[in-house]
Amino acid sequence: MKKARILVTRRWPEAVEAVLSERFEATFNAGDRPMDQAALADALGRYDAVLPTVSDRLPAALFERERLSARIIGNYGVGYNHIDVGAAAARGIVVTNTPGVLTDCTADIAMTLLLQVARRAGEGERELRAGGWSGWRPTHMIGTRVSGKTLGIIGFGRIGKAMAKRCHFGFDMDVVFHNRSRIDPAEAARYGARQFDTVEEVLAVSDFVSLHCPGGGENAGLIDAGRLAAMKPSAYLINTARGDVVDEAALVRALAERRIAGAGLDVYAAEPHVPEALRAMENVVLLPHLGSATAETRIAMGMKVVDNITAFFDGREPPDRVA
Ligand code: DGY
Repeated sequence: MKKARILVTRRWPEAVEAVLSERFEATFNAGDRPMDQAALADALGRYDAVLPTVSDRLPAALFERERLSARIIGNYGVGYNHIDVGAAAARGIVVTNTPGVLTDCTADIAMTLLLQVARRAGEGERELRAGGWSGWRPTHMIGTRVSGKTLGIIGFGRIGKAMAKRCHFGFDMDVVFHNRSRIDPAEAARYGARQFDTVEEVLAVSDFVSLHCPGGGENAGLIDAGRLAAMKPSAYLINTARGDVVDEAALVRALAERRIAGAGLDVYAAEPHVPEALRAMENVVLLPHLGSATAETRIAMGMKVVDNITAFFDGREPPDRVA
């Protein structure tokens, strides 16, 4: 039987690329250079499957051309707001993602950011490496205690729950959250958390606010100037979800005017662009979208894509179909 022709838009872990080459007529991106819109449009017209990542944009315009050969988009990642899934579905193209396998590693990065910004770890390391440390003293680089504080979570899906578990059971924190749908209080209690009806209620009481909702759609700009103003001036914002959930310009203003204490960010509105103003601030920890970046998770994500497209080309329902 003729193998399906697939295009992998970026380099993937070697072990996964090996499986893809065995099962499919695979084209890889050996140079790992991001593909532009013209190249992605061309791919949708030439391959049976396109396997993109968060660094590829697939807006409605890409699905408008007359002849599309792609029948499935196997996204390498759980978030898929970079793909216009409605436009893909309208052309009969199936879209899948990779849920479940990056939960713990993404919560670990949120925890890393929270601890790092509260305890000024980035600043401390910069000072030491620059040769500026003059020795221990009682007033040196004083941060904020994390243990026993209140964590507010926006979005209580898999990653939000994993973050709650770490903070409540590991750091004795009081955890409150907002989620669009109602979570059974007994289920929330398993993570040491309780649900509030509104985002504002969560922001008003939290010492740390951690975002775990999907990007795009109704969540774009969710944390705007008004909501930043609703946070305590002593509070920190942690974002490992998607950059567009936060109004980045409003965040820069709130940080510059010290209306919140700091931020820990792994995601940005227009990656890989990070506003110069953020890069200049000491009370901000900035990571280059590392949430899922562990060897174990990146292989597991790839194998999920393999499972999804294998099921599809075998005529079965892909396990992680989102459109
Ligand atoms: C995800 O899986 O959504 C990560 O952010 C990488 O895309």
